[in-house]
Amino acid sequence: MQFFNSFDKYGLLAKLFHWITFIVLLVQVPFGFYLVGLEFSDQRIELENIHILIGITVFYLTLFRLIWKFFNPSPTESKSFFKGQVLIGKANHFLLYVTIFSITISGILKKLYMGEILNFIFFKYGFEKDNFVLADAYYQVHIYANYLLLALVSLHILAVIVHHFVFKDKILNKIT
Ligand code: HEM
Ligand code: HEM
Repeated sequence: MQFFNSFDKYGLLAKLFHWITFIVLLVQVPFGFYLVGLEFSDQRIELENIHILIGITVFYLTLFRLIWKFFNPSPTESKSFFKGQVLIGKANHFLLYVTIFSITISGILKKLYMGEILNFIFFKYGFEKDNFVLADAYYQVHIYANYLLLALVSLHILAVIVHHFVFKDKILNKIT
């Protein structure tokens, strides 16, 4: 299996980035919603720390994924069946990246403005002063960006289904 992307297929590393992110998000989004419903306790703090560690890992993963994308050819777009189709696909992919960054960065800023020291895996960092108004504002971004992610992923999967069953252009072969 090829390591780099080719003009008709994603390479091994790009595939791994895509499917690992998918599996992690499949767990992390419901985990976040479950977390907010819990009563304050030591167990909740522990679960929140796990949520944060997974979230920061997604941040790094997406950063490395984009760097890898920059140094690789992108597989050519699938055949167009209607005007604007390629643009919609590109916009969907672009917004998925923006949304994942919005979720992770807003989560990080919420915690930093709460005055907490965060473990960024390679180093630890905290702001010198807290600001609860900003912490709350970034938390709102965290919540709404999650809803946006759900909408974009639904659209993404719907597009794959239409490609597969209606256009029959074997789009899944590019990424599997
Ligand atoms: C959390 C869920 C998902 C996210 C965030 C996501 C994100 C992305 C992104 C950002 C790309 C563009 C890759 C690039 O060129 O940079 C992509 C491509 C693709 N994804 Fe997903 N994806 C998800 C789930 C899925 C699922 C469940 C499927 C299959 C049912 C799928 C099938 C594809 C296919 C076929 C492509 C290639 C599209 C093309 O190049 O024309 N994705 N995905
Ligand atoms: C892609 C990664 C992430 C996803 C999908 C995600 C998802 C979520 C979701 C769905 C919620 C529940 C929101 C609500 O309904 O109130 C939540 C809560 C939370 N998230 Fe994340 N999150 C991610 C990354 C992060 C990161 C990186 C941090 C911090 C560094 C973070 C910190 C928090 C905190 C502290 C809460 C709970 C707040 C509270 O109840 O006080 N998240 N997350």
